[in-house]
Amino acid sequence: MTHERVIQMNTSQGSYDIHIAPNALERSKEYFDQLGSTIVISDEHVYPLYGHLLKSPHRFVIPPGEESKTMDTVMEIVNHMLSCGLGRDTTIIALGGGVVGDVAGFVASIYMRGVPYIQIPTTLVAQVDSSVGGKTAVNTGVGKNTVGTFWQPQKVIIDPTTLRSLPRRDVVSGVAEVVKYGVIYDAGFFQYLDTHMEDILSADIDVLCEVIERCCMIKAEVVDQDEKEHGIRKILNFGHTVGHALESLTHYQEYTHGEAVLVGMILETRLARVLGLIDERCSQEVHSVLRRLGIDESIARHSTAALIEHMTHDKKNRNEQISFILPMGVGDVEEFMFDPEELWGYWNEVAGVGAHKVIKHPALVNRPMRRRSTG
Ligand code: GLY
Repeated sequence: MTHERVIQMNTSQGSYDIHIAPNALERSKEYFDQLGSTIVISDEHVYPLYGHLLKSPHRFVIPPGEESKTMDTVMEIVNHMLSCGLGRDTTIIALGGGVVGDVAGFVASIYMRGVPYIQIPTTLVAQVDSSVGGKTAVNTGVGKNTVGTFWQPQKVIIDPTTLRSLPRRDVVSGVAEVVKYGVIYDAGFFQYLDTHMEDILSADIDVLCEVIERCCMIKAEVVDQDEKEHGIRKILNFGHTVGHALESLTHYQEYTHGEAVLVGMILETRLARVLGLIDERCSQEVHSVLRRLGIDESIARHSTAALIEHMTHDKKNRNEQISFILPMGVGDVEEFMFDPEELWGYWNEVAGVGAHKVIKHPALVNRPMRRRSTG
């Protein structure tokens, strides 16, 4: 049996463990038995597959997909919990992908001023990113994740065998977030991904365990330094400025989160190239790994005006400037802020397929950068 990997996450709300193992759900039976009052929050795809393993008398099952990530869903769950008489000693178990985890975590953070919760992520995006680090959120008409809290789980239980039942589209979406860790933090891991991409896409369990562990270790290191995203945690947003704009622009109908981030990483890497922050070799290196996932930036056929308009509502913005995390090389990124008009000036070059003109705006290149707090 493949060994269990355990990563410790340290936060201001306490430390907790991330357990990664094939069949981790079955291995955790005794743990679930001693939890006391629980409710499982899951979706209609996932609950029928694994819900029975949790043996909770209560459940709230939501329709799958980003449409469920709303305050209405949150209030339906809260009202259901109240009508079941569940008290503040209740543990919420989030069983599902990123939407379930974000909604369940948000409910946990507000129900009776906060109850404990456990994350059991069943998609790759959730296993390598959203279930770890305590961000919870719902979407509003204005944008993605515009209402939320920081509320850390008691435990994260990751069973990579759950990925075997995922459609390839969802696996690819998760791999986008995996590649992100290589680009933002770890050039060696980026090379590992390049070598093992086919094993990952075919859900080789040993490789997946390795990949998930590495991603969670990076995330734990980052969150340990900056839990509330005042500094280094921002690097996790690489690809997300464009990605979130694409998602909200298309009303969450056209792209999965991972696909939007994938296109975002391609376009943001191109922006870094246009600005002369990276050389052509580095740009090609990143693009070639991302393109192996079978999606390229040409699927982002939206007007520059619409895209930039949506970016201006991004919650990462400050002083009416749009925040971007851009690569300075593989394994190294920095934050740059742009006026929307300034971005217009670059975007035709960024979006033009095959265009490789380097603008190197002198004012931008000379602007002091907000360096990673690790120095
Ligand atoms: N998903 C990015 C973060 O947790 O900060």
